[in-house]
Amino acid sequence: MVATSMEQLVSLCKRRGFIFQNADIYGGMQGVYDYGPLGVELKNNLKAAWWRAMVYERDDVEGLDSAILTNRKVLKYSGHEDTFSDPMVDCKKCKGRFRADQIGGKCPNCGSTDLTDPRPFNLMFKTQVGPVESDENIAYLRPETAQAIFTQFKNVVDSTSRKLPFGIAQIGKSFRNEITPRNFIFRVREFEQAELEFFVMPGTDIDWHEKWKNARVQWWQDQGLKLEHINIYKTPDEDLAHYAKACYDIEYQFPHGMEELEGIANRRDYDLGNHTKNQEEFTLEAHCHENKESTTKLCIQDDNGKWVIPFVVEPSMGVDRGVLAVLTEAYTEEDLGEGNSRVVLKLKKHLAPIKVAIIPLKKNNEQIMTKCHELKAQLMKLGIGRVALENTGNIGKAYRRHDEVGTPLCLTVDFETIEQQPESVTIRDRDTMEQIRVNTADLAEYLRNYFL
Ligand code: GLY
Repeated sequence: MVATSMEQLVSLCKRRGFIFQNADIYGGMQGVYDYGPLGVELKNNLKAAWWRAMVYERDDVEGLDSAILTNRKVLKYSGHEDTFSDPMVDCKKCKGRFRADQIGGKCPNCGSTDLTDPRPFNLMFKTQVGPVESDENIAYLRPETAQAIFTQFKNVVDSTSRKLPFGIAQIGKSFRNEITPRNFIFRVREFEQAELEFFVMPGTDIDWHEKWKNARVQWWQDQGLKLEHINIYKTPDEDLAHYAKACYDIEYQFPHGMEELEGIANRRDYDLGNHTKNQEEFTLEAHCHENKESTTKLCIQDDNGKWVIPFVVEPSMGVDRGVLAVLTEAYTEEDLGEGNSRVVLKLKKHLAPIKVAIIPLKKNNEQIMTKCHELKAQLMKLGIGRVALENTGNIGKAYRRHDEVGTPLCLTVDFETIEQQPESVTIRDRDTMEQIRVNTADLAEYLRNYFL
């Protein structure tokens, strides 16, 4: 079973501390969310899984962590200053502003057809660097993490001696002034991206585009998404981003519909071509703008020693959309019979915010509590992730609470633990609710086998 309405997820996320509306106490800021105690763990685990698959498990990818503040020239030559916009119309009656392509000539707010002509509205957040407000001091909050990967291309190549094909991966915040943020964390103004720019020899790009599409679909399945909830959408030429030659969207069946989770674009030589010095020395496929300001040739030697500007294939995932997708897929309401039911988050164990909850059968028993603290300290050292001491409510409530947040194992310290030898605890499985007794001497091995 999966979540069938966004309300189920919004409610669970707030109740259990996954995701809160930003500035909630002041009525909230639209399109901006904060991740709570469990949300930050889930998001970190998803990012770690991406980084492991994209960087550590491959031999052809390096990482980068670049600044969010972006020099205006970068976004001038990337084409974002000119083209990163939506045509907008204003309603003359209620003063609402809407995307022209989404409203069919009628104000969705008041129904008026008295609208302005469409005007481009740039989606980038502008700011100023330093104390003086002037045109020279304009900077942007990056609208994608990709651009710094292109502008640092030469530094990465020179410092790592990479040859084609190879990629540069980055995870970080991006910002878009969306006109109509909606659907919880699906379309937001501040969001996180996990992007790989994979540089290849021109001519091999179409093959690599296919390979990355397949690899990424497999990765999403490894995060728990069922293939039948995934769709591959090939973007029609007229809808492609300004830099792309082709693009696949990996779409997921979110509660609000089948929508993009990750884009995999063939950006060809558009970005490196636009940012490079001495463009005339290269044969570029993309139509690039003249650049007299770049100080660096963004090229690499092929096997014959010829300098080429590589093509780029870009798998670009929305981390927040990823969180929403794995939550949607994991959300399960189970009928336990006799009028009982439970909500259980059947997250893959590597994504679960808490791996093991240690639960005292009696909170006011000193011996039991001492043992719980001891076990927590001992199990944290295993490197399996967060082990939490659960100190609220009775045992039944603690199990329900951990079912709802997806904790794979609950470990209970009871009277048998402190009174009988060999010392043992019960371990309860989230999905089957079955309990087994394990000697504490064997716990480390049991948990290592289970999680690692
Ligand atoms: N880098 C692709 C995107 O931000 O959509």
